[in-house]
Amino acid sequence: MEVNIKKVNFDVCTFCNHKCSFCSNPDERTAKTLTSLEDFLTVMEKVASYADLTEIGLSAKGEPLLNKQLAAMIKLCKELYNIPYVYISSNGALLNEKRARELFTAGLDSVKFSINALDRKSYAKIHGKDEFDLVMANLSTALRLKAEEFPDVKVMISSVVEESEDEVADFFRKSLGNSFPLIDRLWRYDLLFTPIAAEGDANVIPQKKCAIPFTEVYINADCHLIVCCVDYFSEVDFGSLLTNDFADLWLGARFQELRGWHNDNAIPKDHICARCLAFTPAEK
Ligand SMILES: C[S@@+](CC[C@H](N)C(=O)[O-])C[C@H]1O[C@@H](n2cnc3c(N)ncnc32)[C@H](O)[C@@H]1O
Ligand code: SF4
Ligand code: SF4
Repeated sequence: MEVNIKKVNFDVCTFCNHKCSFCSNPDERTAKTLTSLEDFLTVMEKVASYADLTEIGLSAKGEPLLNKQLAAMIKLCKELYNIPYVYISSNGALLNEKRARELFTAGLDSVKFSINALDRKSYAKIHGKDEFDLVMANLSTALRLKAEEFPDVKVMISSVVEESEDEVADFFRKSLGNSFPLIDRLWRYDLLFTPIAAEGDANVIPQKKCAIPFTEVYINADCHLIVCCVDYFSEVDFGSLLTNDFADLWLGARFQELRGWHNDNAIPKDHICARCLAFTPAEK
């Protein structure tokens, strides 16, 4: 079997400055780690020696802007590894003009703001931080920079909220005014599986197969190869990419066993993938 991957997710910071009520990140069982630039380079050298990557996400379970080396990492991805699409998802609270300019200049292709409430009071309750006005101001600043200096940077929004897609779009249309058309994409999500989200929801319906273990690489901030970003409590760990070769872990016996379980629909029922595949949000 060959290494045939195009997409990597490198979670360069697993802790967060917010505490969203539905997110597993604030749970104390989540390991809090930050990737150093040196380790990032070591791991990327290994991955890039096997793959011609088309995209890399530098966020997964935590808040990427808490890593002060983020711009340097973006620059490496663009200039050393020539990755066409480099993106982050962020709560946006730390994305002031200086930081946005730094990341856009480094070559960031896309930033997705996660804004999980549509007014200040609900935001403070959901995010655990009274930073709605700050985040909306940072969003407007990012859109102004896009309009004036960085037309190719994609600026997106995702909202995990009760409101409908139309209500979410109406809210941002009204709030952003003339800048609204600069938003490249707007998602409104129901709750997805994470251990915490699942604990609160007994309504489970089997989902379709998952392609992630076959196609996407997830690297934790401690540089371990993991299954994906829903494994907040590190239940599955394929080993360190600092001390192992990438292909040895990606094509190793333990990863192949997991792929076999997925192919044969025989995932042990307490495994995170079995719990994830059995989960969809409660019907409204
Ligand atoms: C875990 S966060 C990490 C990056 C960054 N802190 C942020 O909020 O964008 C990545 C995305 O996962 C979403 N998320 C977290 N838990 C979720 C859940 N149970 N269901 C749906 N989306 C979830 C967040 O809203 C966010 O858009
Ligand atoms: S969704 Fe993002 S901002 Fe909210 S707690 Fe989770 S990691 Fe932090
Ligand atoms: S089944 Fe769920 S936990 Fe397993 S790899 Fe897919 S998304 Fe991740």
